[in-house]
Amino acid sequence: MVPFLRRSLQAILLLFALPLASGEAVRLDGGWTFKPGDNPAWAAPSLAEGGWKPIKVGLAWQKQGYEQLQGHAWYRLSFTLPERLRQDDRLKEGLRLSIGQVADFDECYLNGQRVGANGQVAPPDSAPDPDFWKADEGLPGRPRVYVLRPDDPRLRWGQVNVLAVRVYMVSGWGGLTGGEPMEARMIDHADLTSLEPAREPFAFEGARLTKRVLLTNRSSRWQLRGTLEIQGAGLLSGQPVLARRLQVRVAPGGHQEVRFAIPQREEACRFTYRLRFQEGGVPMERIEESPYLLTPKTRRAPRINGPQVLGARPGNPFLWTIPASGQRPLRFKVQGLPGDLRLDPASGMIEGTTPPAGTYPLRIQASNAHGSDTRTVDLVAGPRLALTPPMGWNSWNAWGLAVDEEKVVASARTFVEKGLRDHGWNYVNIDDGWEIPENSAAPKREADGRIRVNGKFPDMARLGRRIHEQGLRFGIYSSPGPATCGGYTGSYGFEAQDAASYAAWGVDYLKYDWCSYSTVAKNLTSLEELQKPYRKMDQALRQVNRDIVYSLCQYGMGDVWTWGEAAGGQLWRTTYDIDDTWKKLSAIGFAQTANAAYAGPGHWNDPDMLVVGWVGWGPSLHPSRLTPDEQYTHLSLWSLLAAPLLIGCDLTRLDAFTLNLLTNDEVLAVDQDRLGRQATPVIQEGSIQVWARELSDGGLAFGVFNLGETAATYRVDLAKLGLQGSPQLRDLWRQKDLGPSAGAHPVRVAPHGVVLLKASRAR
Ligand code: GLA
Repeated sequence: MVPFLRRSLQAILLLFALPLASGEAVRLDGGWTFKPGDNPAWAAPSLAEGGWKPIKVGLAWQKQGYEQLQGHAWYRLSFTLPERLRQDDRLKEGLRLSIGQVADFDECYLNGQRVGANGQVAPPDSAPDPDFWKADEGLPGRPRVYVLRPDDPRLRWGQVNVLAVRVYMVSGWGGLTGGEPMEARMIDHADLTSLEPAREPFAFEGARLTKRVLLTNRSSRWQLRGTLEIQGAGLLSGQPVLARRLQVRVAPGGHQEVRFAIPQREEACRFTYRLRFQEGGVPMERIEESPYLLTPKTRRAPRINGPQVLGARPGNPFLWTIPASGQRPLRFKVQGLPGDLRLDPASGMIEGTTPPAGTYPLRIQASNAHGSDTRTVDLVAGPRLALTPPMGWNSWNAWGLAVDEEKVVASARTFVEKGLRDHGWNYVNIDDGWEIPENSAAPKREADGRIRVNGKFPDMARLGRRIHEQGLRFGIYSSPGPATCGGYTGSYGFEAQDAASYAAWGVDYLKYDWCSYSTVAKNLTSLEELQKPYRKMDQALRQVNRDIVYSLCQYGMGDVWTWGEAAGGQLWRTTYDIDDTWKKLSAIGFAQTANAAYAGPGHWNDPDMLVVGWVGWGPSLHPSRLTPDEQYTHLSLWSLLAAPLLIGCDLTRLDAFTLNLLTNDEVLAVDQDRLGRQATPVIQEGSIQVWARELSDGGLAFGVFNLGETAATYRVDLAKLGLQGSPQLRDLWRQKDLGPSAGAHPVRVAPHGVVLLKASRAR
């Protein structure tokens, strides 16, 4: 080709290859000032910033010398918005202001005018909302993006603009916490395109896994054109399972659906979705891993599951349903039921009054047309409760403050209908959000000090009955401070009345969350002050005639594991809040070492609740962002750690993978083992960690975890685990004997995955 022609052609191609937007961004991640407290006048562009201090964003304010653990604070930033940004832009859809993530709620102002709150844009001239922090959607990790049309009167093109962000922190770490780019730029075609394959998980259909992916064009004018490439390969085997390339063309406001299916495998497959825009620019890429089932199908013959030992206090009401799987109807028999305890032979529910102190072996039999199973469970009547870690559901990770009675009852019903109860899941716990908000004008308590409930929980005694009727136990939440972390009324000064209310409602479990107690306790380095509110509620709980499992929640302050039991707790949180990311999960889970010696029957370390299934901390939920292998790691590690297991998802949307994950009796038996030993890391080599715990039958459960980013082959030196000779090994997830193994046992572990084994050895 003639050089001239070639150059012109190149120039033309280059022109088409240019991204639609200029791509230039104004960074908003430096130069901020900060002031704790609240004053709507602080939004004004011309504010004299006396008393304001420079602050870093991307780091909580508590990590920068501000101690405040709850409440309001403001951030301000001046920045220039160059005229060329909108001039060079071809799409002209809008300016995108991104202030990253906020802990926990925000109201955003530009040049003195409100732009929106908690990521929702507001029209110009909208009035400040003092209740912006009562929205349910603020928590956690939701990126705060505000898009304004280029001609929006709040924007000052070519001039200095002042951004002011009013923040409210509920608990934990507060402020503009980064996590996402903080910038102002024109929106481009990738912003207008939604490709979120993980929003709709793979479905199990027969022997296949099917998938539907939706490509949406959110623009009102632009036509989306390009190619979508989907590639999938097994994570352990590396074997390709899918390679597809298709043309896409989506009209403004429209969507295109892509479907595919792959055979089910015994490994996760990693899928890459790459969308190339016809206009060029950076392709959009999404990665997703497909689920796989390890727990074998529940057999038709009965199998008794759950703990082998129960603790209950003499003279108190007793309620326990024998967890047993197998085809219904099942028929239960129990020999050795003491006192007035009665068994319902059809449901396996045992009710009545706990007998005088002593150990009562209950010889349980469950039978159906396919066979029978027997097991002895020791009922230990005495002062101790939770002789194995509590297992159940808690509303927080799913519903946050959007929880209500029907959602709780729906969870209880699912425990029964989906058979979770048959595998030992039995507490149904409300978290924050059931009292009257602390700043409401309505009375928080009756004249005699009794706590009042809000409209979402009209009748607590009725809710208690509805849960108990299902053979399940009822849990509740409060704070020793005047307010809970979510801003509802706490128990401060009314501990005895609250314990009495809980007893009257039939409560079986209390999570007692520090939150605003910081406004009462002035010295957080004083152990006595840390313990005081917990001891106080413990005394109140001991005055009522119910077995109320007492869960201390104060995020591990003052090494709570060293004194939690003495303060009356059966379990205590050892960390700040978990979320559904590998970063949080691995940072919490693999750090549970210093506290290991303090776990045992009746006293457990609590690394926080499970983040599997549909979670969301508010009204809109999403499937856990953990990959399937990360979820196997979650359940395996928590079981090895003898952690309380509280499911934190919407149980009405329980998918096949999550149900399979939560109903593996051999894995759960590790968690529930009556010896109550917490695993410790025995081997750490590169990205491999082997955590092991002794079991009551003389066996050793151990998990080989791969914290690395690629599949690993590893030989476990059994001698390092204290295993001599040739112990029999069993794969607990697959419930399969592997036979005797000696020396080094080879395993192949997926990235962020686990192989969970049990070695049997003679006592
Ligand atoms: C704290 C706790 C969470 C949850 C919320 C409720 O953050 O750690 O588990 O109970 O409060 O507001």
